[in-house]
Amino acid sequence: MGPLSAPPCTLHITWKELLLTASLLILRNTPTTAQVTIEAQPTKVSKGKDVLLLVHNLPQNLIGYIWYKGQKMDLHHYIISYVIDAGTIIAGPAYSGREIVYSNASLLIQNVTRKDTGSYTIQTIKQGDNSKGVIGHFTLYLDIPKPSISSSNLNPREAVETVILSCDPDTQDVSYLWWINGQSLPISPRLQLSENNRTLSLFGVTKDTAGPYECEMKNTVSSSRSDPVTLNLLYGPDFPSILPSLTDYRSGDNLYLYCFAKSNPPAEYTWTVNGKILQTGQELLIPHISTKHNGIYGCSARNSATGKECSTFKIVIVSAPPGNEYLSWHIPT
Ligand SMILES: *[C@@H]1O[C@H](CO)[C@@H](O)[C@H](O)[C@H]1NC(C)=O
Ligand SMILES: *[C@@H]1O[C@H](CO)[C@@H](O)[C@H](O)[C@H]1NC(C)=O
Ligand SMILES: *[C@@H]1O[C@H](CO)[C@@H](O)[C@H](O)[C@H]1NC(C)=O
Repeated sequence: MGPLSAPPCTLHITWKELLLTASLLILRNTPTTAQVTIEAQPTKVSKGKDVLLLVHNLPQNLIGYIWYKGQKMDLHHYIISYVIDAGTIIAGPAYSGREIVYSNASLLIQNVTRKDTGSYTIQTIKQGDNSKGVIGHFTLYLDIPKPSISSSNLNPREAVETVILSCDPDTQDVSYLWWINGQSLPISPRLQLSENNRTLSLFGVTKDTAGPYECEMKNTVSSSRSDPVTLNLLYGPDFPSILPSLTDYRSGDNLYLYCFAKSNPPAEYTWTVNGKILQTGQELLIPHISTKHNGIYGCSARNSATGKECSTFKIVIVSAPPGNEYLSWHIPT
């Protein structure tokens, strides 16, 4: 028989009768040999899709079936029933308008919503011997979509900014779990989870807590993990170094200096000699130096994102060429 959709809440007398029969059956219910089983098709149900609850091992000689939402078999939880002889479908208070019951007792739920999750009970009503009512239970879960992490700030400044990470979407009936660097979260006053664990507050991000972060959404039947998210930590510059560390040069040498400071974003460098700005850039090259290049060379590293600036200095002493042995080394005052 094809699908039969039911008008909601009609034939009140009939369903009351059915329910009465059902209640009597529950009272007199004895353990049965054949176990009615319910299988969802597809097994992973996504929101907005349809799911068919297939009923297996139905006893013979049934007069009808009743589907309930939940485990309680009362009027309030009564979705729909099917009376085999008449082919009648009777909808109850728990009918949403999206359920279709088939003659073989299977229940199709169309356009599944979160409210449709939870347990379902089917009760069969048997011809003749009323004591053989059989009950089957099933719990419907929605498939968990792949979560994603959103951040209140993807580019926090080191140690000073609070970042709030959220695991999206915000869904009930799931638990949220977090990982940092593939490990569960360490216990730290700088890390704080919200009540349902969906949001994670980071009070002052450091290099150790920049990530990668992953979040997972989990229910009894499935789980799904987000892609990793790493915060682009803005830090530095740290104290710069000038290379090479060599101090003594000979007249005619090339003076090549390189400055480096750990910084994100990379630092902007400025060179000074004896306090006067010489040039910008990470490298300094002065070919064929002479004693007039003696002095204190400074490298200043600046990070405009953190607003920090840090400088270091190096002394360069150029020895005079042979036969011109005086040193013009002097430090300006
Ligand atoms: C019952 O009927 C539905 C709809 O016609 C069908 O898809 C399903 O395979 C049938 N069998 C069982 C065991 O429910
Ligand atoms: C499914 O349900 C949603 C809201 O519950 C509705 O907006 C949408 O139109 C429905 N889709 C179908 C195909 O019935
Ligand atoms: C939140 O996570 C902690 C462990 O990090 C766990 O003990 C707790 O049960 C979780 N709370 C909820 C509501 O999932």
